[in-house]
Amino acid sequence: MTCPPSSDRPMRKLYIRTFGCQMNEYDSDKMADILHARNGLEQVSDPAEADVILFNTCSVREKAQEKVFNDLGRVRELKAARPGVLIGVGGCVASQEGESIIGRAPYVDLVFGPQTLHRLPEMIAQRLSSGRPQVDISFPEIEKFDNLPPARIEGASAYVSVMEGCSKYCSYCIVPYTRGEEISRPLEDVLVEVAELAQRGVHEVILLGQNVNAWRGSGDDADADFAALLDCVCEIPGIERVRYTTSHPREFSDRLVDAHARLQKLAAHVHLPVQSGSDRVLAAMKRGYTALEYKSIVRRLRRACPDISITSDFIVGFPGESEEDFVHTLKLAEAMAFDGSFCFAYSARPGTPASGMADDVPADVKNARVRRLQALVDATAAAVSESMIGSLQRVLVTGPSRRDPSELAARTSNNRVVNFAGAARLVGRMIDIEITEARAHTLRGVVPGSLPPQLADDAAGVAAGAAR
Ligand code: SAH
Ligand code: SF4
Ligand code: F3S
Repeated sequence: MTCPPSSDRPMRKLYIRTFGCQMNEYDSDKMADILHARNGLEQVSDPAEADVILFNTCSVREKAQEKVFNDLGRVRELKAARPGVLIGVGGCVASQEGESIIGRAPYVDLVFGPQTLHRLPEMIAQRLSSGRPQVDISFPEIEKFDNLPPARIEGASAYVSVMEGCSKYCSYCIVPYTRGEEISRPLEDVLVEVAELAQRGVHEVILLGQNVNAWRGSGDDADADFAALLDCVCEIPGIERVRYTTSHPREFSDRLVDAHARLQKLAAHVHLPVQSGSDRVLAAMKRGYTALEYKSIVRRLRRACPDISITSDFIVGFPGESEEDFVHTLKLAEAMAFDGSFCFAYSARPGTPASGMADDVPADVKNARVRRLQALVDATAAAVSESMIGSLQRVLVTGPSRRDPSELAARTSNNRVVNFAGAARLVGRMIDIEITEARAHTLRGVVPGSLPPQLADDAAGVAAGAAR
């Protein structure tokens, strides 16, 4: 379709709507960075103001995919009112559907994949000069990182992508088809990026990858595994805490377990998706481990780091999952005392091997299983929170509290938010906090030695009275 944008207004504002996982959140930041550096676009929170509207999409479940087309329908009206607006679709739906997105939504100007987002400035230029929609969903190795400007950072915590893609091909999952095969960034590139972030005041890095522990060195560093990468990152001056997500049980080596005993800077939290507690279902999912092997990793992790918090993902209602299979999952969840989980109802994804199996667990049974499992994990997570009351926790102060901006928020090593009264100068620092209360999703605490708020007010009143 040829329809040159009719407005000559310069492009100034960018709106990005992100669906899906942390990899997509990360990529959206990179889109904003490159369009700021190359096109001078400033990000806005209202699509009605924007000259460029991007959707960074997810196709992991049917519902996520449907949302994209609903939202696109809405921005179509914006474009009808202001024909100069450019609309782009990136991420996993774009990667999977390519050209056909333009067939279904002809007002879309740009379709780009997770590995081609750095080409956005060129795609925009070509769209404007040719008047034709641009589609580029190729997988050009890992050139993306060589073509991105330095991240614009806010706060003391930053994400660093260390590997992209997935080569595990679990039978239900779309990700290997949308993100391509696993590919690791070179060791030196990761270390240089972390060192630069540290120099700019970042104290915590979160190493990102779809299977982050599948990271491998290349060239001279071909022997390096993910545990070696953690060793190096923890040595960088200024970095005080290191997290990583998401790890896969199949590559959770003894060396990685040992890293949790050895590296004090490594956070006491691992997100380790199990998906099911039934060996029959795990085999049908092609996960590559048994329930016993999974339990053994968790047992060794807890031996290495007794306070470690383990969170997980589950899929319930996989084709053929019986009540007995599901009970195995409940039992595993109970035995592992998970500290949180995402429980998903199985959703058949076109083109995956499992989509050829009968999706035979009725929707109401799937939903009931999700609720039973989530309730169990919520209870074990609440017990962990309760057990933290009275303890002293090392936290990174992230900024004002979301609920009450007069208070501060911080993150514990085991990935919980703590709200507390404290001075703004503490933001960006690692401090100790005493936990006083456990709420549903957050903790409350006090800076040890500080007065409780009402006593502090009284003391201030006395001081003010004395001065009068
Ligand atoms: N690489 C990670 C997870 C990536 S996708 C891992 O393997 O552990 C995030 C989560 O989405 C998965 O852990 C799984 O629980 C869920 N998921 C993936 N495909 C799904 C599907 N077809 N239906 C329902 N949930 C799915
Ligand atoms: Fe999907 Fe499995 Fe890869 Fe995770 S490991 S992204 S679930 S194929
Ligand atoms: Fe979704 Fe793609 Fe992430 S399918 S979960 S955005 S890898």
